[in-house]
Amino acid sequence: MSIFTYLKEDHREIQSLLEKIEQLGPESSAERDETFNQLKSKIILHSKAEERAFYNPLKESKRTKDEVEHGTEEHQEAETLLKELTDSSLVGSAWFQKFKTLKQALEHHIDEEETEIFSDAKKVMSDGEASQMEKDMKAAKKDEEQHRNIKDRDVA
Ligand SMILES: [Fe+2]
Ligand SMILES: [Fe+2]
Repeated sequence: MSIFTYLKEDHREIQSLLEKIEQLGPESSAERDETFNQLKSKIILHSKAEERAFYNPLKESKRTKDEVEHGTEEHQEAETLLKELTDSSLVGSAWFQKFKTLKQALEHHIDEEETEIFSDAKKVMSDGEASQMEKDMKAAKKDEEQHRNIKDRDVA
């Protein structure tokens, strides 16, 4: 599998969680909270690993440098929205409006990655590099997860 297929699979999972939450509507529920938490971990893990395994090497190339820097800014924007959505004082339609902003931002981000970044990345890297990146992405995810578990333990 190449990094492109792997990232696309991850993106589809993120999109399906976004759809699910939108369908649950503005009223809060245990199901929505749980789905939102799932979405949040998935996005953070995906973004961090994507930056390490995919964006970082692409920063070396002139063709892709600006695109991945823009992508990193969008990751930060999504993280800010996720933090705001975690604030328990935000409820009802205000929560839902912000969620829709997040959904739109992520759909735009995913679309840009899969069109512009992927097509330029394919021009600057070989098939061998693309399959190595998939392995790097998996390793980066494992590493991020371990760090998070350690942090969680420290808090508890
Ligand atoms: Fe991304
Ligand atoms: Fe992505």
